[in-house]
Amino acid sequence: MKEHARECNTEIQKHESVYVVSHIDADGLTSAGIICKALQRAGINYEMRFVKQLDDNIIEDIANINPELAIFTDLGSGMLDSITAKGINAIVSDHHQPRGEGKYHLNPHLFGANGSYQLSGSGTTYILANEIGQNRDLVDIAMVGAIGDMQHLKKGQLTGVNRLLLEEGVKNGHLSYEKDLTLFGKQTRPVYKLLQFSSDPFLPGLSGDEDACIGFLHDMNIRFGGDERWRRWIDLESAEKQRIISGVMQHCIKSGLQPFKVERLIGEVYVLLNEREGTEMRDASEFSTLLNATARYDHAETGLAVCMGERGKAYEDAKKLLGEHRQNLVNGLKLVKENGIIQLDHIQYFDAGNKIKETIVGIIAGMSITSAGRRDKPIIAFADSDDGVKVSARGTQDLIRKGLNLSQAMSDAAGFVNGAGGGHDIAAGATIPATGRNEFLNKLDEIIGTQFQKN
Ligand code: C5P
Ligand code: C5P
Ligand code: C5P
Ligand code: ZN
Repeated sequence: MKEHARECNTEIQKHESVYVVSHIDADGLTSAGIICKALQRAGINYEMRFVKQLDDNIIEDIANINPELAIFTDLGSGMLDSITAKGINAIVSDHHQPRGEGKYHLNPHLFGANGSYQLSGSGTTYILANEIGQNRDLVDIAMVGAIGDMQHLKKGQLTGVNRLLLEEGVKNGHLSYEKDLTLFGKQTRPVYKLLQFSSDPFLPGLSGDEDACIGFLHDMNIRFGGDERWRRWIDLESAEKQRIISGVMQHCIKSGLQPFKVERLIGEVYVLLNEREGTEMRDASEFSTLLNATARYDHAETGLAVCMGERGKAYEDAKKLLGEHRQNLVNGLKLVKENGIIQLDHIQYFDAGNKIKETIVGIIAGMSITSAGRRDKPIIAFADSDDGVKVSARGTQDLIRKGLNLSQAMSDAAGFVNGAGGGHDIAAGATIPATGRNEFLNKLDEIIGTQFQKN
């Protein structure tokens, strides 16, 4: 990969300005942050553009702008033929399943690594950035992109090329990792909120119930509240943390939660050592959610600024957006629970209509599988979109082992109704014409049935 990255760099160095195109999620933002920083340091001008996904219209538009060089990050691998056909001089630095061929195409799938969990768009772009110049300090946000795409979930920790980059980052003092509680918000939120907002796993008798969570911690003799500020996880002493971890685990086992779910309470977590303690950026998972809260709501410039190290207004803006994002996730999950998930033979689905924004319906689908859905079928979610209907699909590791490939299935079923889709085996998306929804559903159900059968 490094060798090919070097060839890409030779092309980049021929230009004074480039047009960068990236994706509006945490991985796309960190990829953009990495490439923009590298270009800036190399004295190359850039113009930045973020897109929800790359389709023929956008490629056409970029071709009309006619940049001397375009760099696509965290997207492009699924659209290589269109990019080439439109005559765009392009470098594609991506980790999605490749379709077609391109001259400057950096993608782990081409080098024997699986892009759905061994290297993210940001990791791929980090490798490119380090051929452009010395950019090893950007390893921390490279790992944030991988966590944002949930690449650590496959094996319970970062593996593959991700792990090589992680270890390099640890050696250079930029990152650390340890086994710890996996619940969300350890840097920034009062401890009881970690329990209250846990959706994966859903903690029986605790998730969603603030009073129960506070009572639970009081019973364990965890001192908090009163005059002092609510304590966060990072404020606790290690004996207190231990007490909470074993207390929550025992509680879950007694309540009949399956052991594999209880085990998920503990896992490897990643800390960004150059960031201030108690901020979202210190924790890779909180950082990735902070970024999702910007770009998925048309504020990519805010997320990009944070990725590039701005900590003033950009960070304040991002925090505001994060509050709204959280509320949207809570409301979305509630909506799915109330309206229910419809079961077909091999898939389950819900249609959020205009009640959930298309850019976050995939996140809510993923969270719903564990909180409201069944684990023996992938979940499909629909949301209205300007271009028709947005579809998001999420599976589980178990289902992949049984033959599921959502990227292939979504691409084929969408193609069947004149839409387009792609992504990864475990998480994929598509946009289809509104009139094709039911036909799409039946086709998808059939394709996924066949995937399970073949295995
Ligand atoms: O666009 P992109 O490839 O970056 O998005 C990947 C998506 O797949 C993310 O939304 C991520 O959360 C999701 N994913 C998942 N479960 C996994 C791995 C990825 O939901 N185990
Ligand atoms: O797009 P993807 O599926 O990766 O997004 C999932 C996001 O939801 C992650 O960024 C994760 O950190 C976030 N999340 C959250 N609150 C939770 C659980 C997950 O904000 N309780
Ligand atoms: O939008 P969502 O989070 O559901 O996307 C999941 C995965 O599917 C991402 O990797 C995204 O890049 C991909 N996707 C795609 N084509 C679309 C929509 C999403 O390849 N039309
Ligand atoms: Zn990605």
